[in-house]
Order: sequence, then C-alpha cells, then structure tokens
Amino acid sequence: MEKKKNISMAVIKRLPKYHRYLKELMKNDVDRISSKELSEKIGFTASQIRQDLNCFGDFGQQGYGYNVNELYNQISNILGLTKPYKTIIIGAGNIGQAIANYTDFEKIGFNLEAMFDINPKLIGIRIRDIEIMDIDYLGDYLRENQVDIGVICTPNNNGQKVCDILVRNGVKGIWNFAPVDLVVPEDVKVENVHLSDSLLTLTCLLNDD
Ligand code: NAI
Repeated sequence: MEKKKNISMAVIKRLPKYHRYLKELMKNDVDRISSKELSEKIGFTASQIRQDLNCFGDFGQQGYGYNVNELYNQISNILGLTKPYKTIIIGAGNIGQAIANYTDFEKIGFNLEAMFDINPKLIGIRIRDIEIMDIDYLGDYLRENQVDIGVICTPNNNGQKVCDILVRNGVKGIWNFAPVDLVVPEDVKVENVHLSDSLLTLTCLLNDD
C-alpha cells in the first residue's frame, strides 16, 4: 500500500488513536476486525473509519474486515514510526523532566539524547542517564550532533530564542510546550501542546447543560 500525500489534518489527528487501538488488538491476538467492531472500540463511526482508511489505499475487504497487523503497519508508516528520532529537551524543569522520565516514548522510537537548561543548579544533574547541559552549549551540540526533534519546555519568554537556535542548526521538528506561537520557516514543523486546552474542554463539558 502506498503512502498517500496530502492527508487532511483532521485525519492525521485521528491516526494516533487508530494506532493505539490497533496495537492493543494485536496484543490480544486479534487478526482481523470489521469497521463496525473497530467503531465500537474506538468511538468513531464505521463510515468515518472507512473514509479515513480509504485515504491511504484500498484496505478493508468486504466481508473480511481489516487485517489488524497490516493496518497497524501501514498507519505506523504514515505516522513516520518506521525510524528512530533523535530528540533533545530544552528546559529541564517540571515538564522537561516529566517527559525525560517517561520511558515509553523510547519504545516508539523517540530517543532522548540530551537535555539543556539555563539554571546552574540543574546543570550537571542526571535525569535517568542523561546529564543536563548548559544552554550555552546548545549551538555547539547541534553542530556536532544531528537532532530530529527539539522539545521546548522553557518559559514562554524564552521559547522563540531557543527555537531560533534549533532552527538555525537544522532541527526540523519542534514539540512545543511553551505557551508561545513560534515563528519558524515553512520546512520546520511545530506541534504545540496545550494541556490547559484539554482541561478547558473538560470544564466546558462539565458545564454544558
Ligand atoms: P519550570 O520552571 O519547572 O521549568 C522551566 C525550565 O526552563 C527551568 O528549569 C528553567 O531554568 C529553564 N529555562 C528558562 N530559560 C531557559 C533557556 N533560555 N534555556 C534553557 N532553559 C531555560 O516550568 P514548567 O512547569 O516545566 O513549565 C515549562 C513551560 O511549559 C512554561 O512555559 C509553562 O508555562 C509551560 N506549560 C505548558 C503546559 C502545556 O500544556 N503546554 C502546561 C504547563 C506549563
């Protein structure tokens, strides 16, 4: 099955959920699943699922359903999970350390290679086996080491400055936790994480009567 270009952002946002559920099905030795069964598990309608999966080719077979393993591999491929990503964290405070300590990211190929901070009290400390380095060394580090993803966990007023150093030194992926709209060239991809957006969705639902 060919990887298709121009998949809509709405579909891309749903793919990690498919990936998660398919992995679970594989763990439970489920070989095949119909769009109706998948729909009951995942919470998308069966027609939504058929429409989404049609974006990448002719998957399900009438009367057979989806081959779980094949679909999982294909979605992993589309999600770019067929290779490892060298990752560094900038800002080794609460969020930076929480991400560094979450070892499951490595299981899907996000290899944490280095951490940086500006605070002398943190520099030299090890989080798991990674020593926090001085932010002043970031530029040199990036010139010596190819890095795929920079995770920005600094306060918002420093986010752009840190981002500029990453971009100048060839980092193409930014996972941004700082509440700032980063300005980057077109070939650099930024994914912003706002936990508070999710929390405010919850408060909205709680008050939706
Ligand atoms: P924190 O204060 O525990 O950690 C921030 C770290 O960044 C500190 O260790 C600080 O020394 C370091 N730092 C500051 N300037 C730096 C620079 N130029 N270079 C390298 N390191 C630098 O803060 P916390 O709780 O980890 O939050 C980090 C950021 O994430 C903040 O901007 C906060 O507003 C934001 N945040 C985002 C959330 C989200 O959902 N995206 C949720 C909560 C916080």
